[in-house]
Amino acid sequence: MSTESRILCPQLQQKVMSADEAAAMIPAGATVGMSGFTGAGYPKAVPGALAERIKAHNATGAAPFRINVLTGASTAPELDGKLAEVDGIELRLPFQSDPICRDRINTGSMNYTDLHLSEVSQYAWSGFFGKMDIAVIEVIGIREDGSLIPSSSVGNNKTWIEQADKVILEVNSKQPLRMEGMHDVYYGTALPPHRKPIMLTEAGQRIGEHYLRCPIEKVVAVVETDSPDRNSPFKKPDDASRKIAEHILEFFDREIKLGRLPKELLPLQSGVGNIPNAVLEALDSGPYKNLTAYTEVIQDGMLKMLKSGTLSVASATSFSLSPDGIAEFEENIELYREKIILRQQDISNHPEVARRLGVIATNGMIEADIYGNVNSTHVMGTRMMNGIGGSGDFARNGYLSIFMSPSTAKDGKISAIVPMVSHVDHTEHDVKIIVTEQGLADLRGLSPRQRALEVINKCAHPDFKAQLLDYYERACASGRGMHTPHLLSEALSWHERFEQTGTMKPE
Ligand code: COA
Repeated sequence: MSTESRILCPQLQQKVMSADEAAAMIPAGATVGMSGFTGAGYPKAVPGALAERIKAHNATGAAPFRINVLTGASTAPELDGKLAEVDGIELRLPFQSDPICRDRINTGSMNYTDLHLSEVSQYAWSGFFGKMDIAVIEVIGIREDGSLIPSSSVGNNKTWIEQADKVILEVNSKQPLRMEGMHDVYYGTALPPHRKPIMLTEAGQRIGEHYLRCPIEKVVAVVETDSPDRNSPFKKPDDASRKIAEHILEFFDREIKLGRLPKELLPLQSGVGNIPNAVLEALDSGPYKNLTAYTEVIQDGMLKMLKSGTLSVASATSFSLSPDGIAEFEENIELYREKIILRQQDISNHPEVARRLGVIATNGMIEADIYGNVNSTHVMGTRMMNGIGGSGDFARNGYLSIFMSPSTAKDGKISAIVPMVSHVDHTEHDVKIIVTEQGLADLRGLSPRQRALEVINKCAHPDFKAQLLDYYERACASGRGMHTPHLLSEALSWHERFEQTGTMKPE
């Protein structure tokens, strides 16, 4: 299908222009809401054109040209990478995973606000981010009445379009038009005290519309693009991921036998990355049928499960597929369109819905401590990795919250199980299960001291187990508080040792 036929609204056909012309409408200091979530559905042309403009401006020695960039979640080198490279981002939120952004955040030249993804829209509506000047949104088509066919992610697009003074649309003809009909955009949200319940009682329910509403007069530019989403291949599951997946499947099996989980489990939320993908693959080769997913992102593993019937339906806000996954999706789009629902992120990650459905949340972590607190974001307590993303939306509100990691990092020099986490994202009150390739610690109903022994004995790597037990026993013997025993002067010494010697192991 030609690009022209994707812009059916006559008034908006008049607004077609180049990316350079559209980027020229974004002033220095602007707050810009962009589409994009886990490398899907982000604008491909305007951010790069803007970066070129910023570079040329900065070369004149004039006051730096920087903007605030708000998205759904992470984007790609064409957006975060290009703008960060020219130091064009003053403030970035709510999530990123770009190496150049990360570097700027960690060297202090970019402000970053790391937020629960379900809450971003509420923040915007409450005015916590100030005024939104412009929204730059990728869509796959514009209908005759000016309504928009969303792209491979919905994210915060509804909110950005509603909040922004002006809207720039990128119409990407690379995205399959046959995605039309998958999206479910809900227009019933409000701020308290006017908020009503979100009437979703099953993962597969539709409660909204297929299209994004957009006042025609707000649209100042329409840019045509023809570029694919960032798609990186998944690694083949390694030994650690396979073992983690095995422990989780054994656990599910036990819970079903004990009558604590139905045989169709409960709606799955699966974090992004190789370990969650390995868990999905393992589930697909298990005895499961008719599972459901209420999650944030559709990865390759979920496509396979939908095709095989392991999964009957998946609700998310975005895709995050490998090149093979994209090819599979496009080839069998009629099948997937029936089984996948893409919602805006304040609904895909809604705490009320996650609690009602009883989601099983499985997410990666950087480290956990012996009492079950989890750090998902900060390396050695200070350096941002990606952000909390949606993990907190699901972990606190899920029926089960499972955190997974190999038991060591950096060639075994770092233990993922430490006396005290160097940063807390998920507290001991939210974390129910911790899994490493060594085993699975079930923390439900345990007191802190019981949890410490469960975590050390089940999850710690043998190279660090004796060291952890020694810490715990000396903390207990110290005569200080026995509820959550700690040696405060030593609690973060493992991290300090790594910083000083390159390993957490004692000399
Ligand atoms: N200390 C220092 N570095 C560590 C570490 C630790 N305890 N644990 C992991 N790392 C490093 C790894 O070495 C790796 O570094 P590299 O990229 O230089 O090789 C990197 O962190 C990623 O670790 P990896 O084991 O490959 O796991 P991952 O890709 O699954 O990522 C998180 C793990 C925690 C970073 C990732 O899950 C995340 O960003 N989580 C927060 C957001 C989230 O949960 N989103 C899903 C919600 S829907």
